[in-house]
Formats: sequence, C-alpha cells, structure tokens
Amino acid sequence: MTDSPPFDAPIAEPPTTDTRPYSPGLEGVVAAESAIGLVDGINGRLLYRGYPIGQLVREGSYAEVAELLWTGEWHPGTRLPCAAVPLAVIRTLRELPSDAVPMDALRTAVSAWGATQKLTWPPTPDQARALTAFSPSALAAFGRLRRGLEPLDPDPSLDLVEGFLYQLNGERPDAGTARALDAYFVVGAEHGLNASTFTARIITATRSDIASAVCGAIGALKGPLHGGAPSEVVDQLSQIGSPERAEEWITATLDRGDRLMGFGHRVYRAYDPRAAALRTVAESMDVKPTWLDLAIQVEDVALRILAERHPDRPLKTNVEYYAAPVLQGVGLTPDMFPSAFALARHAGWTAHVLEQAAANRLIRPDMRYTGPQQRDLPV
Ligand code: ACO
Repeated sequence: MTDSPPFDAPIAEPPTTDTRPYSPGLEGVVAAESAIGLVDGINGRLLYRGYPIGQLVREGSYAEVAELLWTGEWHPGTRLPCAAVPLAVIRTLRELPSDAVPMDALRTAVSAWGATQKLTWPPTPDQARALTAFSPSALAAFGRLRRGLEPLDPDPSLDLVEGFLYQLNGERPDAGTARALDAYFVVGAEHGLNASTFTARIITATRSDIASAVCGAIGALKGPLHGGAPSEVVDQLSQIGSPERAEEWITATLDRGDRLMGFGHRVYRAYDPRAAALRTVAESMDVKPTWLDLAIQVEDVALRILAERHPDRPLKTNVEYYAAPVLQGVGLTPDMFPSAFALARHAGWTAHVLEQAAANRLIRPDMRYTGPQQRDLPV
C-alpha cells in the first residue's frame, strides 16, 4: 500500500499565477530533434537528409527517397513494389459504404492491417517498408470496391506509384503519368514536424506500434487545416473561368475576407520549393488539365494582389496550387487528393517513427490549469 494523505489533510495550493511560457499551437516551440528533413522557410528550401527537393524530384524516385528517409543513405535503383492486401483488410473495406471518404477508408485499412501483423517494438525499417507498400494497394482496392469492381492483386514488376495506378485503374499507366505521380510522391514525402508527423511521433513515444502511429497521422492529416486544399484550388479556378476575370474575382474574394487557396504558408516566406517542382512536373505532363494555363496566369495576378495587400508579409504560392493539376492530370478524382497525399507522406511519417523510437522519451507536455481551485461539493 502506498501512503496517501488523509482526505482532510491541508494541501499546498499550486501558485495562482503560472509564469511558465505558453505558446498556443506550440508555435515556436522546439519539440524534437531530427536529422530527416529541413524546412527552411526564409530561403524557400526543403532538404531531405541534406539533399534539395528539386534535385530529388529530377533525379530520384519515390522508392529511393523513402529509403533515404528511413536509412539516411542514398541507394540508387531501390525498388518498392506494392504489397498484397491481407484478406481481413479486404473484408473490412467491403463493409464500408461506397460513399465513405477515401481518407477514412485508408485509415481503417491501416488499422485492420496493424491487427494482422503482430507488430513488435521497436519499429523497424522493414515495418516501414511493409506499411508504405501496403497502403497504396489498400486505397486502390477501396477505389475499385466503391465503383463496384473487384480489387486487383499487385503486380510485383511495377514500382509503387505505377502499381498503385494499375491496381486502381486496371491498366498500367503510361511512363509520363507514372513519372508525374512519382514526382508528386517525392514532393509530399516529408515536411518536418507538421501536425500529422508530430502525431505519429507522440504515438510512437508511448511505445505503441507503427500502424497505430500512421492511423493517428492519417487522422491528423484529414483535417482541412492540414490535409491541404488542392481540390479547392480546382473549384477556385473553375469559378474564375478565364484570365480576364482573375483580377475582379480575386479582389472580391479578398474583400470578403476569404482566402486564396494554394497561397500562404505557416513556415515559408519565400516561394514554396515544392510548388516550383510541381509546376515543372505539371507543365511537362503529356496529358495536362485544360485549366493549367489558366492556373499559371491566375497565379501571377494573385501574387501581385497579395503583395500589394500584405507588403510586410510575403504570401507566395504553396504546394497545393500545383499539386492540383498533377493529381488531376494523372486521373485522380478530387476526393482522392488528400488520400494520395497521405500515401506520399507514409515515407516521412514512418521515418519519424523510427527516429523517435531510436531515442525515445514519452512526449508529455505540461498544461496551465485555468479551472477553479479545490472546493467542496454543494451540500
Ligand atoms: N489568402 C489571402 N490572405 C491570406 C492567405 C491567403 N491564402 N494566407 C494568409 N493570408 C493573410 C491572412 O488573412 C492574414 O492577414 P491579416 O494579418 O491582415 O489578418 C495574414 O495573411 C497572416 O495569416 P495567418 O493565418 O497568420 O497565416 P498562417 O501562416 O497561419 O496561415 C495558411 C497559413 C493556413 C496556409 C494560410 O496561408 C491559408 O489559409 N492559405 C490558404 C489555404 C491553403 O492554401 N492551404 C494549404 C497550405 S499548404 C499545406 O498545408 C500542405
């Protein structure tokens, strides 16, 4: 038995004024050390293990980049084919309504996968590879089931992104389409201690398993403040309709206090390097959305107006703006955009899971209590 104070013992009241620093949203708080990715908002740089994102998009593949994030080493020619979906997961996906949100289906699939794997602590690079290879197959299976089609087995001769499109559409994508989506996956693979990555690290820090960490991360990414706005970029451009209407539409939108989708960022004060990389990808696609030229012209007008209205706060194009034409160009429907982002981010999430586990400390921040002091229940 532990000694506990008698109920009526005098207690030392906590100080009424708590002067410890508090940062709502943890803004400016350093909550981890990481060697995985550098998000340099001032200079508009994004480095994975020191390598600039532009170089990785031009010269690397998603499989090579994922391996780099997991191991810290560059292994040219690394392959990562999609993995088969366990029967228990397929059964679970069959039970979902066909109008379920794809992010919910993906989160459910990862949870069911975790239940089939007997995942041990600490998490390993092989667990990270297995989960990253599983999720595209599961999302593709849901994409078919909701259209009344049967899931397809993965083709081991195809790399991850090609394999995902094959399992989704039933035909092998052309090289340009596969390359464009692969570039999107590279760009989306890692981005520092964002909300979903932090979630994955918090779950890992309790010594929970990698599937639980990724389920939590998918849940965090689903929120509209994080999961991005590429489908809203498509809506925005369709409302603008033609370059001549851009000035008037943007002015009216900002006058109403609304925001332009695909612009601004919490960290970047310079042009988001991921937007620059994806613009190049979008422009070089064989089959581009018809509205890509409109997007480019609207961007110029938007940047000029935002600079006039916010001379002291640079508001530049963010990754979502040019993610939209790439994702639509490869044939994904807008409701699949957030789940495609989640597939790409698996490499970063699981790299952070491995890094957290390797130097683990339970993440348990403090809180400033603002409720009543101790009192007695009314008689
Ligand atoms: N359009 C118009 N004005 C904007 C925009 C925008 N896209 N972004 C910021 N501002 C303005 C704000 O109105 C605010 O103006 P004020 O000081 O006169 O009130 C000022 O810039 C600062 O805004 P904050 O909300 O403090 O900026 P924050 O860094 O927190 O916001 C965010 C970042 C949420 C991305 C914001 O820029 C935004 O809402 N953008 C549009 C949505 C979008 O594109 N989301 C995808 C982001 S990329 C990603 O998540 C992967």
